[in-house]
Amino acid sequence: MKRIILLLAMGVAIFMASCTKEGPAGPKGDPGTNGTNGVNGEDGVDASITCGECHDLSDGLVAIMAQYEHSKHYETETAFEGSRGTCSPCHTSQGFRGMITSGYFNDLAYENPAPINCRTCHKIHETYTSEDWNFRTTAPVRSRNDSVNTTWDMGKGNTCINCHQSRNISPMPNLASTDSIKLTSSRFGPHHGPQANMLAGVGKSSCVEIPGSVNYMNSSHTNLLTDGCVTCHMGAPVGTLAGGHTFTMYNESEGYALNGCTPCHTTADAQALIENSQTEISDLLTQLQTKLVEKGLLKADGVSIVTGKKFPQVQMAALLNYLTIIEDKSMGVHNVKYSKALLTNSYEALN
Ligand code: HEC
Ligand code: HEC
Ligand code: HEC
Ligand code: HEC
Ligand code: HEC
Ligand code: HEC
Repeated sequence: MKRIILLLAMGVAIFMASCTKEGPAGPKGDPGTNGTNGVNGEDGVDASITCGECHDLSDGLVAIMAQYEHSKHYETETAFEGSRGTCSPCHTSQGFRGMITSGYFNDLAYENPAPINCRTCHKIHETYTSEDWNFRTTAPVRSRNDSVNTTWDMGKGNTCINCHQSRNISPMPNLASTDSIKLTSSRFGPHHGPQANMLAGVGKSSCVEIPGSVNYMNSSHTNLLTDGCVTCHMGAPVGTLAGGHTFTMYNESEGYALNGCTPCHTTADAQALIENSQTEISDLLTQLQTKLVEKGLLKADGVSIVTGKKFPQVQMAALLNYLTIIEDKSMGVHNVKYSKALLTNSYEALN
């Protein structure tokens, strides 16, 4: 301000000097008074405050990050599959987000595939506030194998079941058809994670409900658990070993993470229910596997699928049901009653 007044004063002096008659210079005048200060601008928002809602790295958040580092999602060896369009929606972060925003069957391939991380499920760095913990999606999820007729709603578990479901099954066995089926691919079946299909159960699983002596019905969890997978798999964590953001139910040194079960079962009961169900289902699986080998649908190793040979629809349906329960990996726990019906009736149909 001082400088501006000085500049102005100098301008006036030069003007006066140019149009008056020259006389002797007078004495130097007193300095002028300072001008008033300008009004301060409005304060900007302190970015470190909203950032701090997460980046203060509270113990709670550190615990979640440590759990996450012990999860299969983080340790993944299959992120490379994201460089293939048909695999990217479930095997990379970018593919999943693309699937949610640009349509269900996103099949872009990604050059620099990122493993599933915090940003995949949560809206990290969108508003830069704690709102960003919200999920990318909570919408009900369509079945890939039957996207026209079948939708599942598992609450918070909807995040999981966009990925943890059967891929498109081809060829899909059809009991009404008399044509036989010849497989050309040894990858026939639901792929590796048909858990949503099993939890959804009757009429919504993409298994074939072959008629038989056991009625098709679901175990209680299908209708009882409003958050599906999350209720059981993300119960209060057992350190970094199981539960919470490890997403797993089991750890070799500490056994099952049963904190998600205790609103309804004691931990001792939950443990016994798991063990009894798994024993029963694993016996039924072995019985059906032996039959599938005997009928020539599985090779003698009991694992490899036979291709290039014709089989009746019902036999192929039994194979699909067997593969779905194997790939579900809970040994029946996800839907004990339904698994029992599928395995028993499939066995009877082959017998
Ligand atoms: C909702 C919680 C949340 C808020 C709010 C938030 N962040 Fe983050 N930030 C994260 C998470 C989660 C990560 C990723 C950690 C990971 O993937 O390992 C991250 C990662 C980062 C990184 C590492 C580089 C990167 O992008 O991965 C920087 C830098 C960062 N945040 C800066 C900021 C700044 C600056 C703000 C505020 C303007 C902010 N964050 C607000 C949760 C948050
Ligand atoms: C609908 C989602 C989805 C698609 C599409 C998908 N996957 Fe997967 N995949 C999964 C899930 C979920 C798992 C983990 C299942 C589990 O461990 O229970 C998995 C596991 C795997 C595994 C590890 C198997 C194991 O037993 O450890 C491989 C390998 C794999 N997928 C390959 C592929 C390839 C190759 C493609 C594309 C041709 C593909 N996936 C497409 C969901 C998908
Ligand atoms: C596979 C999806 C998935 C990934 C990946 C994931 N989360 Fe979560 N997160 C969830 C689910 C589901 C819940 C809700 C759990 C519940 O309600 O019991 C949750 C809850 C949370 C919460 C509590 C949110 C709230 O509103 O109170 C925080 C914090 C959080 N996650 C942080 C993280 C961080 C940090 C990472 C990365 C290290 C991460 N999450 C990765 C699915 C995920
Ligand atoms: C973006 C797709 C995606 C989402 C979302 C997702 N998963 Fe996964 N999940 C996978 C894939 C792929 C694997 C296998 C990773 C590998 O083996 O490389 C996996 C592995 C797992 C495993 C370990 C399986 C094993 O064989 O050891 C569990 C348990 C699991 N997920 C549970 C969940 C739960 C619970 C949720 C929801 C909170 C969830 N997942 C959300 C794709 C996903
Ligand atoms: C009633 C509780 C319950 C619900 C609901 C549930 N699970 Fe599980 N899940 C289990 C148990 C118990 C096991 C068996 C763990 C074992 O024996 O190692 C298991 C096993 C698994 C496995 C393989 C083993 C592992 O943990 O690595 C995956 C993957 C899995 N579940 C994913 C899911 C997904 C995805 C959903 C939702 C569609 C789901 N589960 C719903 C209890 C549950
Ligand atoms: C919201 C309540 C609720 C939660 C949470 C819950 N369950 Fe259950 N569960 C039930 C009910 C009700 C039944 C049926 C009554 C019975 O058979 O005892 C049942 C039955 C079972 C069965 C036998 C299924 C059958 O049809 O034979 C198993 C196994 C089981 N639960 C395991 C678990 C495990 C493991 C957890 C936690 C990871 C869990 N449950 C969490 C309510 C629940």
